[in-house]
Amino acid sequence: EEATAKRKDAHLDLCATGDVEPQGNSTLLEDVRLVHCAMPEMAVDEVDLTTEFLGKRLRYPLLITGMTGGTERAGVVNRDLATLAERHGLAFGVGSQRAMAENPQLTETFQVRQVAPTVPLLGNIGLYQAVGMGVDGVRRLVEDIGADGIALHLNAGQELTQPEGDRDFRGGYKVVEGLVRAFGSRLLVKETGCGIGPEVARRLVELGVRNLDVSGLGGTSWVRVEQLRASGVQAQVGAEFSSWGIPTAAAIASVRRAVGPDVRLVASGGLRTGLDAAKVIALGADLAGTALPLFRAQQEGGLEGAEQALAVILSGLRQALVLTGSRSCGELRQKPRVIMGQLKDWLAAL
Ligand code: FNR
Repeated sequence: EEATAKRKDAHLDLCATGDVEPQGNSTLLEDVRLVHCAMPEMAVDEVDLTTEFLGKRLRYPLLITGMTGGTERAGVVNRDLATLAERHGLAFGVGSQRAMAENPQLTETFQVRQVAPTVPLLGNIGLYQAVGMGVDGVRRLVEDIGADGIALHLNAGQELTQPEGDRDFRGGYKVVEGLVRAFGSRLLVKETGCGIGPEVARRLVELGVRNLDVSGLGGTSWVRVEQLRASGVQAQVGAEFSSWGIPTAAAIASVRRAVGPDVRLVASGGLRTGLDAAKVIALGADLAGTALPLFRAQQEGGLEGAEQALAVILSGLRQALVLTGSRSCGELRQKPRVIMGQLKDWLAAL
C-alpha cells in the first residue's frame, strides 16, 4: 500500500509538470472541421447542452475523467474539481481506488459528496485489480464514496511499461461479464489514453456494457508517464510506444459506427478546448471527457484557476454550437462536417 501511494504521488508530479503529452501525438481532431453557419438565427442562450448520464441530469455534456485519490494532495484535487462539476452541472470521476482498497483510511481522499451532492459520480478501478477484489470488493468501493457507478480502466500499455506492472492479460472479458451482472448500466469501461477501437467496443457491448469512454491517443500518455519513471529496457521500449494508440477522433467515430446509437459514449484523450469537445460530439460522443488541463489548472491556480480554465472550455463549446447553427448536441450531429487527412485513412481501416 505504501508503494501504491508513492507511485500515485510520482504520477501526479509527472503529470503536473512533466512532458506527458509527447510532441507529435495527435487526437486527429485537427482533421475534423465543423462547417460555419453565417446566419445562425439563434441566441447564445438558446443553446441547450443538457443531457443525462448515470440517471442524472447534466447541464453540459462533460465528464472530468478519473485521475486521483489516495494522498492528501490528491484529496484536494478531487474536492476542487468535484466542486466545479457541481457548480456547472458536469459529471465527475475519481481516480483509481486501488490505494483505498489496500488502506481504508485513505477513503476520505476519494470522498467528494460533501462538495458535489448531485453530480453523476464514478468510482474507478483497474480491470486486473477488480479480479483480485471480486465483485463485492468493487461494490464496496462504489458505496464507500456514494458513487453512481464504476469506471473500469483498461491500461495494458501502461502496465507493460511499469516495472511492477501486469504481464498477463488473459480473462479480461470474463471479469467484465461479472461486473456487468453486478452493475448493469452503472458500469463504464474506459481506456487510459491508448483508445478503445470498434472491435473491442463491439465485444464489450455484446457482454452488456452500456457506457464506454474511448480515451484515445493525443493527450496524457500513460505509457509516457511510466517511461519517465522507468529505466533500462523498459524505458527504451516505453519511448518507442509513447505514441501508441488509436487517436481519439478515430476511436470515437469508429466506435459509434460499431455500437449503434444506444450505448453512452464518452470521448476523452487530448481534448483541450470547447471546440475539441464540440468535434467529438459531432463525431458521435454523448459526453466529452477531460483530465490533464483541469488538473494542471488546479495545481497552478487552485479552485479559481481550474474555474477559469473550465470557463474557456464551456464558452468555446457554446460558441461552436452557435456558429454551426445548432441548438443542441443532437442538432450538431446532423450538421455537415469535413473529415480530412490521416483521420480519413484511419476511418477507412477501422
Ligand atoms: C489519469 N487517468 C486515469 N484514468 C483512470 O481510469 N484511472 C486513474 O487513476 C487515472 N489517473 C490519472 C491521473 C492523471 C493526473 C491524469 C492526467 C489522467 C486518465 C484519464 O482519466 C484520461 O483517460 C486520460 O488522461 C486522457 O485525458 P487527458 O488527460 O488527455 O485529458
